[in-house]
Amino acid sequence: MILVTGATGTVGRAVIDGLLELGAPVRALVRRPETAGLPAEVEVVRGDLGEPDSLVPAMRGVESVFLLSSGPELPKHDANIAAAAADSGVSRIVKLSSGRAGDDAATDPIPMWHRAGEDAVRASGIPWTMVRPLGFMSNALHWAPGIRAADTVRAPFGQGRIAVVDPVDIAAVAGRSLVEQGHSGQVYTLSGPQPLSPGEQTDILAEVLGRPLHYVETSADESRSAIIGFGVSPEMADAITALRATALESFTSVVHPTVEQLTGRPPRSFRDWALAHRAEFAN
Ligand SMILES: NC(=O)c1ccc[n+]([C@@H]2O[C@H](COP(=O)([O-])OP(=O)(O)OC[C@H]3O[C@@H](n4cnc5c(N)ncnc54)[C@H](OP(=O)(O)O)[C@@H]3O)[C@@H](O)[C@H]2O)c1
Repeated sequence: MILVTGATGTVGRAVIDGLLELGAPVRALVRRPETAGLPAEVEVVRGDLGEPDSLVPAMRGVESVFLLSSGPELPKHDANIAAAAADSGVSRIVKLSSGRAGDDAATDPIPMWHRAGEDAVRASGIPWTMVRPLGFMSNALHWAPGIRAADTVRAPFGQGRIAVVDPVDIAAVAGRSLVEQGHSGQVYTLSGPQPLSPGEQTDILAEVLGRPLHYVETSADESRSAIIGFGVSPEMADAITALRATALESFTSVVHPTVEQLTGRPPRSFRDWALAHRAEFAN
């Protein structure tokens, strides 16, 4: 049995689809089973990463855990999962981390949280794999309201390029790490096929949508306010803004061969991603 956390989110949901395609038995840990909306083949259990007692029944009979957590509580949540997994005799943990956890120069909150989470997983003594993606292509969905309303993308740090990766490719690597042998002790940094600035992503979206779009570079402050407007806490908005500023550094623009090495096919392009998500930008 494979336990998937973060199962209702972007990557966790894709991990579930990938595991079901492989025919693996899947259990999902969710906070609200009644609204989880997962496929019928998935065993759904209620649990909260912040409530250690709720993790004990979720771990029963589990061989591998996909660990996805986020936000300021991430180190504590990862430690909770690592402890529950160790108590239950789990034999592998695949943690969704952050590419920037591998950048020694990164001292902003999100990579620091992930490094602490990785440390907790390593300290559990359970064989582990760290999956460290660069920025997700799906972050562009935050631009959808502006594109639908005004054909405009407003985003900061226009000079910064990120080799954005499709969550489907992240899930493919995580799925293999969960079901195949040979991934223990590996750290997989994942990127897409090319580094792109927000303006270049806007141009690709325009081509796919078949209408002109405009990119407007905003200040970091405006971006932070917009993130808070999406319902994100000020602490998390500061962390996201600090992370986005690092797109100005070369680390995030490096293309890594990992997706192709592990899946046998090239990583999906931003154009592929945009084609698959075209309806979400339609006005
Ligand atoms: N976005 C990027 O560019 C990027 C790049 C690299 C790494 N990452 C990392 O990717 C992760 C986020 O992945 P994502 O975008 O797939 O996440 P997401 O879509 O925001 O989903 C988060 C998931 O976690 C669940 N969750 C939240 N708090 C929980 C709790 N206390 N107990 C149990 N479940 C809880 C949510 O469930 P509910 O349905 O209950 O809310 C949801 O399923 C973060 O660790 C982030 O640092 C992101």
